[in-house]
Amino acid sequence: MKGIFPIDKFRELRTPFYYYDIKVLRDTLAVINKEVARYGRFDVHYAVKANANPKVLSIIREGGLGADCVSGGEIRAAIKAGFLAQKIVFAGVGKADWEIELGLDYDIFCFNVESVPELEIINELAASKGKVANVAFRINPDVGAHTHAKITTGLSENKFGISMEDMDGVIDAAKEMNHVNFIGLHFHIGSQILDMGDFIALCNRVNELQDKLEARQIFVKHINVGGGLGIDYQHPNRQAIPDFKAYFATFAGQLKLRPYQTLHFELGRSVVGQCGTLISKVLYVKQGTNKKFAILDAGMTDLLRPALYQAYHKMENITSEEPVQAYDVVGPICESSDVFGKAIDLNKVHRGDLIALRSAGAYGEIMASGYNCRELPKGYTSEELI
Ligand code: LLP
Repeated sequence: MKGIFPIDKFRELRTPFYYYDIKVLRDTLAVINKEVARYGRFDVHYAVKANANPKVLSIIREGGLGADCVSGGEIRAAIKAGFLAQKIVFAGVGKADWEIELGLDYDIFCFNVESVPELEIINELAASKGKVANVAFRINPDVGAHTHAKITTGLSENKFGISMEDMDGVIDAAKEMNHVNFIGLHFHIGSQILDMGDFIALCNRVNELQDKLEARQIFVKHINVGGGLGIDYQHPNRQAIPDFKAYFATFAGQLKLRPYQTLHFELGRSVVGQCGTLISKVLYVKQGTNKKFAILDAGMTDLLRPALYQAYHKMENITSEEPVQAYDVVGPICESSDVFGKAIDLNKVHRGDLIALRSAGAYGEIMASGYNCRELPKGYTSEELI
């Protein structure tokens, strides 16, 4: 064991693989529960899309969170991990009929609906089963988040949600339908948000909308403000647990929650991001014309974020203590975007060294692909290895 990693155990395993530090995960869940308890009417669902590793999911379920799912596959994964159907919400801009039917069969808590055509299909399918489906409308609040363009979702140019202008019409349409029950409003402005000002902008917008609705005698039981809280990719050790205190306090202070309402959150990255690390082995150190390459056995197929979003993941050579040198750290995939980082300082690298790519618990393993006929990386928890 060097530092926080069981290196001897790592050497016995085939690389690359994901390693989940369960203590970090449990500590994170404990902080969420502690902060939420201050406010009473806050309810947190975990966004399964961030990481659906079965062991990770079970621990989150034990931690008491609900599940926010965006596909039939995620609903199945959540049910398998023991989440109660009554704690599952189903979101997503394109739900297939069989996925809606699955949600109806399980009697999940709520469908987050993104268009009138979708509402009509849910009403129709629920009628065919003699059921009434709870629905919330995802409203596009036209609030920009200061984050990467590919992960901002709350602008009117994005495909998500129903525009504020159309909201009244959708609510009226729902009233006419006998097999849907309108219970809430849903929002989500983007991901990896560290500026609380973005969430304040969302709260202001929700307050405005609520005033408008109440003027029409429309009262909504549940407000769901989505997810989006970011993590500190630069300092995974120092800032292992995101600032949930500031996050929940922002909503408690800014959102005018009515006495009869519950406030829902759908957090993904902030729950699982810091507990996960991608462990990979150095295949070769190659001297280029004017730089050195560290060629890993992990590539963009195992961790797509750097190639797709130019995302930064802190890298550490966990098997060398020799003075640092600069390397371009790359994978084996036949794409020039298969680069984890350029001019990265690492303790001197040798063939066979283990490189840890930190803060990879969210949108890491779950976004892996089999491109180049590669095997999907496995995921191990600290409880299995230590
Ligand atoms: N709710 C909705 C409706 C969402 O679309 C998302 C994420 C979440 C909740 C959870 O957001 P979080 O708390 O994790 O920020 N693959 C990208 C992130 C895509 C996020 C998609 N939606 C990445 O690797 O950065």
